[in-house]
Amino acid sequence: MKIKYLLSALSLTASLGLTAQTQHVMEVNTSKVGSTIQPTMYGIFFEDINFAADGGLYAEMVKNRSFEFPQNLMGWRTFGNVELKDDGPFDNNPHYVRLRYAGHPHKHTGIENEGFFGIPIKEGEEYRFSVWARCPEGGKATVLVQIVDNASMGEVQEQEVCFVDVEGTEWKKYTAKFKGKITNPKASMRIFLRGFNNQPIVTTDLEHVSLFPVDTWKGRENGMRKDLAQALYDLKPGIFRFPGGCIVEGTDLESRYQWKNSVGPVENRKLNENRWHYTFDFRFYPDYYQSYGLGFYEFFQLCEDFGSEPLPVISCGLACQFQNENKQPGKPDMEAHCPMDNLQPYIDDALDLIEFANGDKSTKWGKVRAEMGHPEPFNLKFLGVGNEQWDYKDNPVFSERLKKFTAAIRAKYPNIKLIGTTGPDSEGEKFDILQPKMKEIGVDLYDEHFYRPETWFLDNVNRHRYDNYDRKGPKIFAGEYACHGKGKKWNHFETSLLEAAFMTGIERNADVVHMATYAPLFAHVEGWQWRPDAIWYDNLNSFRTVSYYVQQMYSLNKGTNVLPLLMNKKVVAGDNDQDGLFASAVVDSKQNVVIVKVVNTSKNAQALKLNLNGMKGSHNVETLTLTSSDMDADNSLENPNRITPQKGSTKATGEKVTVLEDNVPAMTFRIYRIQK
Ligand code: AHR
Repeated sequence: MKIKYLLSALSLTASLGLTAQTQHVMEVNTSKVGSTIQPTMYGIFFEDINFAADGGLYAEMVKNRSFEFPQNLMGWRTFGNVELKDDGPFDNNPHYVRLRYAGHPHKHTGIENEGFFGIPIKEGEEYRFSVWARCPEGGKATVLVQIVDNASMGEVQEQEVCFVDVEGTEWKKYTAKFKGKITNPKASMRIFLRGFNNQPIVTTDLEHVSLFPVDTWKGRENGMRKDLAQALYDLKPGIFRFPGGCIVEGTDLESRYQWKNSVGPVENRKLNENRWHYTFDFRFYPDYYQSYGLGFYEFFQLCEDFGSEPLPVISCGLACQFQNENKQPGKPDMEAHCPMDNLQPYIDDALDLIEFANGDKSTKWGKVRAEMGHPEPFNLKFLGVGNEQWDYKDNPVFSERLKKFTAAIRAKYPNIKLIGTTGPDSEGEKFDILQPKMKEIGVDLYDEHFYRPETWFLDNVNRHRYDNYDRKGPKIFAGEYACHGKGKKWNHFETSLLEAAFMTGIERNADVVHMATYAPLFAHVEGWQWRPDAIWYDNLNSFRTVSYYVQQMYSLNKGTNVLPLLMNKKVVAGDNDQDGLFASAVVDSKQNVVIVKVVNTSKNAQALKLNLNGMKGSHNVETLTLTSSDMDADNSLENPNRITPQKGSTKATGEKVTVLEDNVPAMTFRIYRIQK
């Protein structure tokens, strides 16, 4: 009988993954304070992919507000007597609509905007409608704004929300606020032309039609969606890379990101194509453009809000190399790129950007910044040149351009740290050609990208990737990475856990790795092109994925210096004799706390003994645990808190050496914060 109970207890323990196996003894030397962990170590990388800017973080709710999409009325329905005109008040956005009397008192003239996947309205929330308008033939008109639900079977199909009276032949900006009457994530905004005070309708022109929630991040008028900006703030990002990715390069040079078009009054920021609208034809979004409403000024401002170092990346004169090998695969189509002897305007863009960020307000670009509301410099320290560029064996297309940029920038701004790239791959021919050149050219850091499957993250080489790096070369910026599950290229717990495991190697090698940013950051559930991503949302709600929480756990526990952590005299990186364990340790000398990160990637619980050499006696320990019994699970809009870090506490004790004992559950990331 007793044996029967024992056996069933044992099988229950095993099925819970609690089988205590080998005692894993890890030695942390708390007295040997190692390399500094850069304040920039964990950060964010923003790219307008997956409707991350317009339709995402940027809180504008009107799509094609300036009528500048190539199909000028895309996103709009017009009714009655509407004409598209192109001699408007804003040079870079000349189109607008002219509204005239519909010809009969019972007929209507007006326009209706569909928003980004609908216009989301919340009951009780305040909104700011604005429009540039005039009555070109004189007189006065009234513009009536309604929020309508064309799909509704209910009684409330339309709500009059505000009226704007337009007067005179000069263009002026008109603004009106209103409160949402019902919650509807997918309404439309309808605008009627009416006669003022029941007088006859007069011709009226409308331009830059805009709608924002009043309650944006920090209450800014040209503001960001609050829940999404808050999610970034909560990461306490040390570095903020923007504005991309592939959009920096453009499909062609014309569509590259041009920061100068993204600053100054929003009404006059020139629209740009977004290459992600057609990159994957199975995720085709013909209405995906960049309004640049979230432009470089706003990026710098967000960096300031978050306490992050800004890291802008600029075009090096090469359009996306993937998309420009069309004529002869494997050979660059040199007609697509800027020739070496015409590179100066691109180099000037880099120099002018530094002036925009740091220049005195007496300088040309410092003045632009000051006039936008920020007379103080943004204190830019880092600049990336090129995104995923590469050299060909017989044609150094990237490195020859990078050399020119480096020489010009170093000559004028010797203190700016320059960031090169090793291309789109973390290994292989492109990487092997470029990596030594980064050292030769003398960039301060280079950007590595790796979107890779589980096998890559668990491979011996990658588990020790940075243990074996050149200590005399440039520092590393792991600028885009994520574990992409094989056959499961979407967010789920198992891949996030492998990211956590990999990051122990980043942390342990903080002397060479100075920055790391997971990618991509944002995705709209109805408008994504690339998965997995850190933060997902629909028009009203958002959720943070397990990968987000992994990043946050590292960022909020980054410490100030690395501490040596060994098991059987070896670093703990999931080696064959380490039972799937990964670990790293740091000290935070400001908070006086030792922080140990342990990731158990095995399907069994692992018994752990942490010897905290250099400490003795009893110490309080806070724990933070991220775990799931379902490897395919993640958070969702319906269940945003399904898997989140859970706080706990324990004690570490010992007369001669402080010892912390634990049984780390299967497939778990756990952080121990041991008060010194
Ligand atoms: O993050 C998505 C894309 O992946 C980036 O634009 C590019 O740099 C990389 O190929």
